[in-house]
Amino acid sequence: MTKNKFYVTTPIYYVNDNPHIGHAYTTILADVLARFHRGMGDDVFFLTGLDEHGQKVQQAAEKRALTPQAHCDDLAPRFSGLWEKLEISHDDFIRTTEPRHVKVVQAVLQAVYEKGDIYQKEYEGLYSVAEERFITEKEAESGQFRDVRRIQEKNWFFRMSRYQERLVRYIEEHPGFIRPEHRKNEMLGFLRQPLSDLCISRPKTRLNWGIEIPFDRDYVTYVWFDALINYITAPGYLADNARFGHWWPVSVHLIGKDILTTHCVYWTTMLFALDLPLPETIFAHGWWLIAESKMSKSVGNVVNPLDLVGQYGVDAVRYYLMAEMVLGADSNFTPENFIKRYNSDLANDFGNLLNRVSGLIGKYFDSVVPAALELSADDTVIMGQGAALGGRVEALLKEYKVDAAINEIMNLVRAVNKYMEVQAPWKLAKTDLPAAGRVLYVATEALRLAAVLLGAVMPEKSGQVLDVLGARGTGLAWGGLKSGTRLTAHPPLFPRIETDPSRAAGSSVKGAGA
Ligand code: MSP
Repeated sequence: MTKNKFYVTTPIYYVNDNPHIGHAYTTILADVLARFHRGMGDDVFFLTGLDEHGQKVQQAAEKRALTPQAHCDDLAPRFSGLWEKLEISHDDFIRTTEPRHVKVVQAVLQAVYEKGDIYQKEYEGLYSVAEERFITEKEAESGQFRDVRRIQEKNWFFRMSRYQERLVRYIEEHPGFIRPEHRKNEMLGFLRQPLSDLCISRPKTRLNWGIEIPFDRDYVTYVWFDALINYITAPGYLADNARFGHWWPVSVHLIGKDILTTHCVYWTTMLFALDLPLPETIFAHGWWLIAESKMSKSVGNVVNPLDLVGQYGVDAVRYYLMAEMVLGADSNFTPENFIKRYNSDLANDFGNLLNRVSGLIGKYFDSVVPAALELSADDTVIMGQGAALGGRVEALLKEYKVDAAINEIMNLVRAVNKYMEVQAPWKLAKTDLPAAGRVLYVATEALRLAAVLLGAVMPEKSGQVLDVLGARGTGLAWGGLKSGTRLTAHPPLFPRIETDPSRAAGSSVKGAGA
């Protein structure tokens, strides 16, 4: 049987930026999908990386009296190190200054030039130095652009306008191409205006930290034209045809809503020019706000994921970001909200269920998983919910509804906690030990299924649960937990966080709650 392939990307982040929870969110999202697809037996390629050219990098390097390359080399580990701490399982980490990428960008430029889709013209327009791109009068009026000046210069342009109609038709004929739906409509709205050609060069007199245009050595390539190409460099475009043919087109580009146009318009028309198929899906998620405001250095409200990991552990951070943000919408981060969800979902529901079943199996069955003989009607309800869970989660994840998929898993966990309350195996144990054993088997087996499915979101803690149950590597069919298995001892999975109002910092992790 041939395996399904799943190729997923994150944006390549600006090397100059301080990594924050926005970057962490997209990367964890990609990681969850990659892990899930690997778990289903798919052939997965997960790409992330860094965008290292452009004026801002050049200026920052000058300030530090470093060469731009030395500056990039110095900063790159901030991202790669964070991905390690966040348990990101990427297969490749691309940096746009790598020779493999420079080669492909120059070959693409040459090919598109020879095709007649790149031409030179004198241009006068408004240029935002902060954004590093030409902007329209209307954009300038919006006041959202800093450092705007009028520039007149000769530049190279990509004939994007030529592909406008074809792109509109493509979007209309491929309903799953731009997601969610309202982003597709936003793009179709944008494409109702005439599309101008894209300025893809910068004269070296103004900027030299970029990839040299192969047919005009006085210019370097505009950063976006360079950066987008990373998605084909990494799987081997022009370097390894068989490999590239295997992975391309990409299954999904995950992006934030801020970079919708560059992906849905610049990138797709570039691919048209190269005669390459378009991505299967471009998925734009919403924005993380901090207490309802935009994260910004000047406001000083940037949330560093490493601080959260240090305080609450990597899996809690991954879980929170994935469970909290509803598909496609903006989400609001506050420490209170983080702690609330941690305590309710992780400490009370998931962690507590493990404590309860392992405690009771310890007490009444000497820590050996009891047998489940004939199931009662109530047991069968849990079994039915558990057995159907894998399919439901798979369907939701294929629609990129990660928050809904997590909720579905947690619904089972909550249902099992309720079932435990109703069945009260601690009481049953005094009168009917096999019945207590049956209830505990059903509850523990459901917990196992939840842990298997949460493995993509919380690799560490889910693994710990499966280790306690002696069930690592088990699948999604009901019955993977083997009666007779001896449970191993474990510390509380997610100790409850007690908020301490006397401390200005807000909270501290205390004791072994649950
Ligand atoms: N370098 C370009 C991308 C080139 S891709 C060919 C870039 N980099 S960036 O460092 O600014 O990262 C942008 C991405 O970071 C967003 O698209 C999104 O994935 C993530 N986020 C940055 N801030 C965010 C929030 N506040 N909330 C959620 N995600 C956001 O643009």
